[in-house]
Amino acid sequence: MKRTGEAPGKVILFGEHAVVYGAAAVALPLSKHVKVTLRDGSGQVDVRLPRRATIPDAHRAAAPVELLRRALGAAFDALDVRVDLGVPPMAGFGSSAALAVATLRALGTPKSKPKLLARAIDVESVAHGRPSGIDPAASIWGAPIRFQRTDRIRVKPLRIGAPVYVVVATAGVHGGTAPVVARIGETRRAAPQLIGSAMDTLGAAADAGVKGLRTGDLELVGRAMKIAQGILDGFGLVGLEVRAAVQTAEAAGALGAKMSGAGGTGGALVAVCATPTAARRVVRALKDRGVDGWVESYAALPTERSAR
Ligand code: PMV
Repeated sequence: MKRTGEAPGKVILFGEHAVVYGAAAVALPLSKHVKVTLRDGSGQVDVRLPRRATIPDAHRAAAPVELLRRALGAAFDALDVRVDLGVPPMAGFGSSAALAVATLRALGTPKSKPKLLARAIDVESVAHGRPSGIDPAASIWGAPIRFQRTDRIRVKPLRIGAPVYVVVATAGVHGGTAPVVARIGETRRAAPQLIGSAMDTLGAAADAGVKGLRTGDLELVGRAMKIAQGILDGFGLVGLEVRAAVQTAEAAGALGAKMSGAGGTGGALVAVCATPTAARRVVRALKDRGVDGWVESYAALPTERSAR
């Protein structure tokens, strides 16, 4: 018997790190997916990587086998699993969460989005320690979302007021999410008021970004991104290559650009553009600096509904 499940990666537009402490965040699904195929077998795992990813990437990608074991439970030993990892691993694009969601979808249970999210967060914790859940939420909803986790998780798909073109890229080396989240926790314990108010500002930037996306005011989105980038840089989360790439993207015509995801020594960055032409120009300017990126586009959604 053969069963398949598929789920997209994600990129965080606003609210990384602050989301761990209850602030609002915004995530976008990627056109790159993870596909999982389950067949009757004996616990064999075959991971196919995206073009240009390396074997160390696969090992560092939170050991897909551990994630699969957690997702499949007792069934693991009676199945052969093929993973087509279309999402670049260890880059801040949510490959672990997408693998968790795709595996649970292949199993066919649970079906409801909130239940699937709770299961995926548990599976993802193998990779991340104590994840906020934003990665699997973006992967499950498969639409731009506003995400917030306080005493409960709230996921709201966003209606986008005007088409938005987002350049997604990576620069430098991603050092892993858990150590960076732990470091921010230590700083927060040492200076709770300072870090608390900075986190509040990151949450306010996310809400300004939500407003800009809903109303089609991409200039507002860009301004909010610049403020968020400044704070994340102050936290020491923006690697040298990412900082240079953000400046390059803005000089090439992005309305705003910032690091994305955990950050640290390097990792993902995002740049928001109003037109496909501007986005292609940003991709070319980044390429000239040796930074690989691509364009994701998000069309207006006809309706908006609260999901949880
Ligand atoms: O693993 P990344 O790079 O997508 O980062 C996840 C976002 C954090 O806010 C840093 C952690 C979390 O669990 O929300």
